[in-house]
Amino acid sequence: MAKLTLSVIKADIGSIGGHIKPSQKLLQTVEKYIKEKGKGLIIDVYVGHTGDDIAILSTHKKGVLNEKIHKLCWDAFIVGTKAAKDQGLYGAGQDLLKESFAGNVRGMGPAVAEMEIEERPAEPFLFFAADKTDPGAFDLPLYLAFADPMYNAGLLLSPKIKKGFKFMIMDVSYTKADRFIELVTPEEIYDIAVLLRDPERFVVESIWSRANGEQAVAACTTRLHNIAGKYVGKDDPVMLVRSQHDFPATGEILSPYTIGHYVAGFMRGSHNGPLMPVKKNSSISYFDGPPVVSCLAFSVKNGKLTEPADCFDQPYWDYVRNKVSQKAEEIRRQGFFGAAMLSMSELEYTGVVETLKQLEKRFKIRRSR
Ligand code: F6R
Ligand code: MG
Ligand code: MG
Repeated sequence: MAKLTLSVIKADIGSIGGHIKPSQKLLQTVEKYIKEKGKGLIIDVYVGHTGDDIAILSTHKKGVLNEKIHKLCWDAFIVGTKAAKDQGLYGAGQDLLKESFAGNVRGMGPAVAEMEIEERPAEPFLFFAADKTDPGAFDLPLYLAFADPMYNAGLLLSPKIKKGFKFMIMDVSYTKADRFIELVTPEEIYDIAVLLRDPERFVVESIWSRANGEQAVAACTTRLHNIAGKYVGKDDPVMLVRSQHDFPATGEILSPYTIGHYVAGFMRGSHNGPLMPVKKNSSISYFDGPPVVSCLAFSVKNGKLTEPADCFDQPYWDYVRNKVSQKAEEIRRQGFFGAAMLSMSELEYTGVVETLKQLEKRFKIRRSR
């Protein structure tokens, strides 16, 4: 039996009232297009949104980076963009950075996370989508869920999980080609930590089990400013994570999201804010944020998806959301200052550079007397 492919392709193609959420009409337009035109190509599909980003999760047998699947999603976003323009939505088509489709959507704006799997008799997996942040936001939770026994009890309790994992980490600042490194746990956890402490540059692209060689994680690594050469919106990543058996348990994969770690992407994509775990189809509000992450659990059989189980829709996460709100308020109290905003290497794609250039001319050197 051919392997099954899980594909997530997502884009911001317009939203209501600023960067809050897509309209129902826009979501329905994208979903209708995929369901009609994807007949005979995809097995199943789920379309949803996190903040202002629309994600298309599909199952099929075509493998990763398949032209037909990517074209289907690209065209759905094109048709959606027209609907967004008709409604006067903000930022209509903003993530579609290229004029015409060329083979697959990598490097064209939309984010992609895909993996080809040998479907297990029971195949649980998690679909993460984040808004108002960038792909490095998943670095810390992935490290903790796969390499730290403080979060992953399986590293103590399961001989197969104890064998560790291989991390493929991408240097997203290198734009000429894919520049990546393979590092394994547990031997190289400190090397992994050295890289992941810089989430704007080093992003986990995939994680593989050392017990069975199977892929556990596929995450996107798109940095829009590297494609566009200027600031065109935050990259708002998606990710697929398989769970249970030889992979971490679902609860282990979710457990690091209790931290509400500070990530890039709050207001105008230029501030740091804590990552808040939110319910399905949540919107955006305070200071165009805070950065949010949603997680839907699915089971899949012969390519057919169950309905999603909303992982952060449970009373425990209400408590976390309150704590994260406090962290958001705390960092916002210092406004533009220091750690509240991103480093200059990120801000160099924004208007700050213009101001600095102007001020540069007015600096004087005081001669020592
Ligand atoms: C991400 C997001 C933000 C905006 C950014 C720029 O979903 O909405 O990163 O893209 O705030 O916004 P505009 O284009 O309105 O200046
Ligand atoms: Mg946006
Ligand atoms: Mg967004």
